[in-house]
Order: sequence, then structure tokens, then C-alpha cells
Amino acid sequence: MLGPVILAASRSDRMRRLISAAPVTKQVVDRFIPGETVRDIVPIIKDLTAKGLELTMDVVGEDITTPEQATAARDAYLELIDRLRDLELGEKVEMSVKLSMFGQALEGGHELALANVRPVVVAAAAIGTTVTLDAEDHTTLDSMFAIHEELRRDFPQTGCVIQAYLFRTEADARRLAAAGSRVRLVKGAYKEPAEVAFQQKHEIDKAYVRILKTLMEGEGYPMIGSHDPRLIAIAQELAHQAGRKLDEYEFQMLYGIRGEEHLRLAAEGHRMRVYTAYGTDWYGYFMRRLAEKPANLRFFLRSMVSK
Ligand code: FDA
Repeated sequence: MLGPVILAASRSDRMRRLISAAPVTKQVVDRFIPGETVRDIVPIIKDLTAKGLELTMDVVGEDITTPEQATAARDAYLELIDRLRDLELGEKVEMSVKLSMFGQALEGGHELALANVRPVVVAAAAIGTTVTLDAEDHTTLDSMFAIHEELRRDFPQTGCVIQAYLFRTEADARRLAAAGSRVRLVKGAYKEPAEVAFQQKHEIDKAYVRILKTLMEGEGYPMIGSHDPRLIAIAQELAHQAGRKLDEYEFQMLYGIRGEEHLRLAAEGHRMRVYTAYGTDWYGYFMRRLAEKPANLRFFLRSMVSK
């Protein structure tokens, strides 16, 4: 029951101001968002890659309100990519981007987001890596898929995310399960109405398995974005049944969640990519992590009263 309430709060400016100003917030936020600047995040990139993990980097931010903020988002990614060039990690460190941070919801937003994200994709390709477009709420997805298709003309390795809770996703998965495509499948983290999305966990899990089967049996590169132990075991089985080798799919999990499982899968020889978020505009990302697990909220509230 708590999840939808927290997700509603994640879109409230009043709650944003309240929570961002709370003195204890930072230590809880750090678990999921371990830095604010490129300088903070580079030691973490070095540490995780030295442990055999791969990364996808997210500069936190979304729902911006001016074109200048969209340009600043583009520049933040370009700064990171510039620093990654020196580390020579190639595709071990890719980028995840939210198009709303690149201006998608502003006037002329589709073109603006495309214009802002393209230089990031170009810069990533120049250092031997790639970009994945995150999936946001369902109203943004037609534009996201169109931008994905446009970027893939020149950069076919550009990835995208699909969300198992949406009714549309089985059809999207069939379209995307083609040679050369990289698709991350997640359960879905936004508050979606019953007209477009499954509401029950067991329905979402069942849809996840159906869609994963489509991706595994297809010709693209599936990226399994989940911490759910059952789905991870099923993914291994489906990959085996589809005759995929260990480097023909990968697991992805979020920084700060089930860290020992990241290492276990990597030690088994799997490609394991950690979605690592950093930056100052962490509110929306942080609230979605609270909504996913009520125990996180209890911990957060306890640390507020114990200060
Ligand atoms: P589930 O929620 O059932 O969790 C399984 C287990 O994992 C839990 O029992 C718990 O142990 C642990 N766990 C999960 N979430 C936790 C948390 N917040 N704190 C502590 N423990 C937790 N969504 C989206 O809509 N668009 C996107 O682009 C992305 N991108 C993305 C990238 C990657 C790499 C991942 C892993 C996830 C996303 N998501 C996302 C989020 C996704 O939709 C979903 O909300 C979370 O992954 C939680 O779902 P699980 O599959 O982990 O299962």
C-alpha cells in the first residue's frame, strides 16, 4: 500500500523541498546515490570495475523545466564521458539517460531531447561504449522509442528499457528482439493506471517471464534488470534453453541493492552491470527506491527521528 503513496510524493514539489532539506537524508541517500560529482564517482567506478563488475552510469535528474537545464544535463554526461576516456574502460562503463532530463516534456521536447542526447551518444561511441535510454512513465514512451529508433540509424548499439508492468510491452519486446538491439527488461518503477499496466505483483512477474522468453529467443541482446532471485534463476534457465552463451546476455542491478549478488553472478562468469547513479538532483530516483521496498522507508524515517 505504501508504494503508490511514495510514488505520488515523488512527483510533489512540496515533498521534494521537505525531504531534500531534512538533515539526515544524505546518509540514507548515499546508499543508493554514492556521489554528487564526477570526482566523487571515479573512485567508485575504479573499485567496481576492479571487482569484475560492469557499470551503467546515471546522472540523476528528470522532469526539468527549462531548456538550459536540458543543456546542463547533456554537459554533465559529456563531462563524465570525457573523464571515462582516461580510464579506458570501453563498454565496461556505459551511460543510462532519462529523456525527461534532456527536455522531452518541454515545448518541442521530442526534438530538443533528441538534439541533446545525440552528442552524448556520439561521445560515448568515440570512447567505445554506448547509451541506454531509460523508460519513464507510459506517456513518454512513444517519443522514447522514436528517439531510440532514430539514434540506432547511426548507433545501432544504443539500448532502451522496457517495463514488464505495461500491457504494451509484450508487443514492444517482439519488435525489439531483433539482431543488434540491446534491451533492458525491468518490472517498472512508476505509478501507472490500471488502464495501461498490471497492478498486482504476481501479474507483473508473470509478464516479466513471458517478455524475457521473447527476448531470449530473439536475436537481440537481453539485459535483465532485476534483483528478484526467482527471476534471475528463470533468466539463467531461459538463456540456457535458448542456447545463449554467457556473453550473449547480461544481468543488471542497482547500486546499493543486493551487492553480494552482483559479485556472486560476476564470479559465476556472468556479465553483471551495476546501475550507478550520482549527482545532486536525486529526489525522484531516491523516492522510487523507497517505494520499491517499504523497509527502506522505515529505515529512513527511523534515522530522521533518532537525530
Ligand atoms: P522486486 O521489487 O520484486 O524486488 C526483489 C528483491 O530485490 C526484493 O525482495 C529486495 O530484496 C530487493 N529490492 C528491490 N528493490 C529494492 C530497493 N529499492 N531497496 C532494497 N531492496 C530492494 N524502472 C523503470 O521504470 N525504468 C527504468 O529505466 C529502470 N531502470 C532500471 C535499471 C536497472 C539496472 C534496474 C535493476 C532497475 C531499473 N528500474 C527501472 C527499476 C525497476 O523497474 C524496479 O522498480 C526495481 O528493479 C525493483 O524490482 P525488482 O525486479 O528488483 O523486483
